[in-house]
Parts: sequence; C-alpha cells; structure tokens
Amino acid sequence: MTDLNKKTPASTAAGSDGSGSEPLLKVEGLVKHFPITKGVLKRKVGAVQAVDGLTFDVRPGETLGVVGESGCGKSTMGRLVTRLLEPTGGKVEFQGRDITHMSAGRLRPMRRDIQMIFQDPYGSLNPRHTVGGIVGTPFRLQGVKPEGGVKAEVQRLLELVGLNPEHYNRYPHEFSGGQRQRIGIARALALKPKLVVADEPVSALDVSIQAQVVNLLDDLQEELGLTYMIIAHDLSVIRHVSDRIAVMYLGKIVELADRTSLYEAPMHPYTKALMSAVPVPDPRRRGAKSERILLKGDVPSPISPPSGCRFHTRCWKATQICATTEPPLLQLKTGHQVACHHPENGEDQAPGDAPLTADVITVKSTPAPEPAAVAEEAAAVKAAPSPSAPVEPDKAAASSAPEQPARTAAAEEGTAAEEAVAPAKTEAASAPEKAPEAEKASAPEKASGAASGEDEVPAAPSTGTEAEPKE
Ligand SMILES: Nc1ncnc2c1ncn2[C@@H]1O[C@H](COP(=O)(O)OP(=O)(O)OP(=O)(O)O)[C@@H](O)[C@H]1O
Ligand code: SF4
Ligand SMILES: [Mg+2]
Repeated sequence: MTDLNKKTPASTAAGSDGSGSEPLLKVEGLVKHFPITKGVLKRKVGAVQAVDGLTFDVRPGETLGVVGESGCGKSTMGRLVTRLLEPTGGKVEFQGRDITHMSAGRLRPMRRDIQMIFQDPYGSLNPRHTVGGIVGTPFRLQGVKPEGGVKAEVQRLLELVGLNPEHYNRYPHEFSGGQRQRIGIARALALKPKLVVADEPVSALDVSIQAQVVNLLDDLQEELGLTYMIIAHDLSVIRHVSDRIAVMYLGKIVELADRTSLYEAPMHPYTKALMSAVPVPDPRRRGAKSERILLKGDVPSPISPPSGCRFHTRCWKATQICATTEPPLLQLKTGHQVACHHPENGEDQAPGDAPLTADVITVKSTPAPEPAAVAEEAAAVKAAPSPSAPVEPDKAAASSAPEQPARTAAAEEGTAAEEAVAPAKTEAASAPEKAPEAEKASAPEKASGAASGEDEVPAAPSTGTEAEPKE
C-alpha cells in the first residue's frame, strides 16, 4: 500500500512480555467452538474450533495487527473481544474488569468504550436509515445527549472522517464503498471509544481508497488517542498500521511480535511463508533474487484440526514431535513470541528430532519479475503462501518450466485453495534428483481474489502424519 515504513520504531508499543503500561485489553486462553448439530433435536455432532486458546494483550495507544488466512478465526476473535459473541472458554479483561460472561445489561455502559468497525461496509449499514440516523444510533442506544445536539455531533463526526456534513440525510446506497466505510468509522467513533476493533477495514475497497481509509485511521488514532486492533489478511496494510502483529493459523496465534522484528526476522515457518509472498515495492530491488514458498494443500478443517502443531501438515520443517506435541507460544526473544519446535532465526526447541516428510513446494523467483506480478503476490499471502526452504541457488533454471494454468483459474476465483492446484505436478524441467519440485516464480497468482473467499469451512482435513514422502 502506501508508505510501508511510516511508523517510527518509537511508536512501537511495549511488548506483550510484561513490559510497559497496564494492558487495556487482556485475553487469556480465549476459545470459541461453534457447535455442529444434526436432526430436529439438534444433537451436537461436532464443533468448529474457530478460536482455540488465544492469549495476548493490547496496550493503550497501540495498534495490534492480526493477520492470517481466510477462516483462521480473525473475525471470530474480534467479535469475542468486543463481546458480540459469547466465548466458550478463556477470559477477556477490559481495563482490568472481567467481561468474559458479563450480562448485556452490565456490558452496556462498557460498549461505549469498545467499538467495532465491521468487515463489510455494504452489509453493516442499514439501507433504510439515513446516514444521520446510522451515525446517531449509538447516542440513542446509550442515552447520550451530546452538547449541541445529536445532529450537530453527527455532522461533526462526518466531517472528521472526511465526509460532507450536508449529506446527513442521504442513504447508504448514495455513497461509494470508501465513503460507506467512513460512515462505519464515524459510527464507531461516535461515543469516543477507547478500543476500536477494525475487522478488515479496507479489504472491500479498491486500492486507491484503501490508502485514504488507512491514513484516516492513523490520523484519528493520533487525534483521539485511540487503541486499535486491526484485523486484515493483507500484510502490506498490516505492516503499515501496526505496532505489534499477531499471526494466526487455524484458530491459534502462532507468532506475536513487534512489527520490525516480525518483518525482519520472522520465527514461525508459517510467518516466513507469508512474508515470502509480500511484494517488494522498491523498483531498485526488482532485480534482486527472492525466494517464495508455496505450501501444498489446503488449510485443514477447523472441525478436526491436525494433532500437535496445527501447521505440521504443511510445514517443511516438521519433525515427529510436531505431529504429537503442540508447541506452546513462548517468548524466545524480547517481545517476540512464537509457537514452534524449530523456529527460524532462533534456538531449536527440539534438536535432533526425526523429520516428517513434508511435501512442500518452494518457488524461487529469479530476477526481474513482471510488474503485474507484484499486486498478484498479495493474493498468495491471503490464500496460502508457503515457507521458504533452503534451496540451492540455482534451480532457477527450472523457472522456465511451464506455468500452471489451473492455478490461475483457481486464484482468480479467490479460492483459498490456490496452492492445492499448484505445483507438485510441474516437476521442474531440469529439477534434479532430490529437491522439491521447483516451479516458476512468475506463476500467476491472482491479486484481487484475495479479498474474497469468506467464511467457507475449509475442506476436509488433510490431517495427520500422512505427509506423503515424495521423491
Ligand atoms: N456463526 C458461526 N457458526 C459456525 N461456524 C462459524 C461461525 N462463524 C464463523 N464460523 C467458522 O469459524 C471459522 C473462522 O471464521 P472467521 O470468520 O472468524 O474467519 P476469518 O479469519 O475472519 O476469515 P476471513 O478472512 O475470510 O474473514 C471458519 O471456519 C468459519 O466457517
Ligand atoms: S517446525 Fe514443527 S512446530 Fe514449527 S511450525 Fe513446523 S510443524 Fe509446527
Ligand atoms: Mg473475517
């Protein structure tokens, strides 16, 4: 997106390691399982483990970014901490008060302090209400009478978010997508909240509008001293807005670190995979060799997630322990937490363990990527990028291997399954004996598709220890 390095290190908030000020929001072991029922008696036959044991905190004035693939539980987490959903387990504290199971009545006054900007700027505004009515609703619900009256205050808010106050009587359909998102922001800010949870605040917008909305959020934070939790799947957006970043995979936080540390030295293989798909915006570095990794297979189903480390079915570093023992989220460096037995850029937690044979594809991108590929890489981020295994410098020759047409089609539809279609078959022409099949870097992943792909329960689990040996 825009200036990726806009925030200074100084703005980096205290880590989640106990340093710094008291957290505004404290979450411990948060769980949400959606029951799956069957028959007229609604017999419970299983559960979607959307969120499964999240522990983190958010400190006053900071922005915590949350990133992960579609279906990993980001929105569910946002709805849990704003108490729009009732947690199955765990604890949520806001300003030191336990709100985990607080009744609606007792929660009401606190709702002023915790607001949410919803993922869908079209669906979250009532089409039958005017903008004035929508933005003024929180005042009515909370019985708040602003100085100068509701109308004047709503008009002030509209102006604050860059909308024309004269449009007070217009209906949502008379606004563009970006303007509607601003209406959602104005509504969220109406009661001067302390914490704003923004769920994909820009993913439904086109790129030029994304920059405006992101900058608006930034400005409002400075002006009003807001604390944000921003959920997104776009790593460029997350990098731009966040002080700290939590990476989620299949209902769990796998890495939590400050922005610089996460981008410069990711420790979890999944994060490394995500990073490998981030486009390099600097044209001077366009010729530089970069390594991209594509994981094989879909994200497993949250109905029956893999044993041990949930990522082990797609991880190229997996060993026996990964299939049996869940790695705890540990702080391995200052302010840098990771859940992995064999972290990158850090001390191995289970040295000498026998490897699982993971079938993972590494893609090497050779010099001079086509300009169009840049935007398209963003899609890979959301869809399911993959980790970079060490690769010999020069299988790049294989890059002349033919592209995978099916892959393009899948990606265009925004399916999260893009890499399922991918690689393996493209046995890189010259790829010798051992290595994973190399594939052409310029493979046409689709950019825009990344925006969609909502909420489908991922296909059947590719669980287990079955990582097929490939050779
Ligand atoms: N009300 C619900 N009932 C049953 N399952 C649900 C419900 N809401 C979400 N899920 C499931 O929980 C999992 C996580 O969904 P969630 O919407 O939190 O994902 P997400 O990370 O926000 O995805 P996206 O990036 O596509 O918005 C998904 O498998 C989804 O199908
Ligand atoms: S190395 Fe093991 S623990 Fe770490 S991400 Fe891979 S499978 Fe999980
Ligand atoms: Mg979501």
